[in-house]
Amino acid sequence: MALSKTMSDALNKQFNEELNSAYLYESMAADFYAKNLPGFAAWMTLQAGEERIHSEKFHRYLDENGERVFYAAIPEPQAEWKSPVDAIKAALAHEKYITKRIHDLVRLARKDDDIATETFLGWYVTEQIEEESTAQSLIDKLEMVGDNKVGLYQLDKEVSTRQQDA
Ligand code: FEO
Repeated sequence: MALSKTMSDALNKQFNEELNSAYLYESMAADFYAKNLPGFAAWMTLQAGEERIHSEKFHRYLDENGERVFYAAIPEPQAEWKSPVDAIKAALAHEKYITKRIHDLVRLARKDDDIATETFLGWYVTEQIEEESTAQSLIDKLEMVGDNKVGLYQLDKEVSTRQQDA
């Protein structure tokens, strides 16, 4: 079954949103590097890599359905955050925005009676639960550490061990 034009456009938009997410997280990584938090920087660099994988999956799905992707302009991301917890809170807010977009895509697939696309999107629905939960647990740890510099140093070491999981 061919994708509807609305669905093809919406998937293209999400392909670009995932690239935008990667750009945002690379910017957060740059801020963490600048603030001598290499563990958080490495964590964010990995996160950006995952976002590129998310965008590639949309790319492949559009290709497989005889559609093509179009690259849109990516807005300049914020360059600096007041504190690590502020940055991760911004990441969580961004993930919630992406979750809403994915759910809107599922609603569109249902409206089109497009079972294949709804099934394809199921991976993203599950992934978003993990994305939000990971960001929330980092926020919890950062809030526990508070202004304790030794605690932040330890946490930075801990998050540096993150492995690619997408
Ligand atoms: Fe592509 Fe972080 O969701």
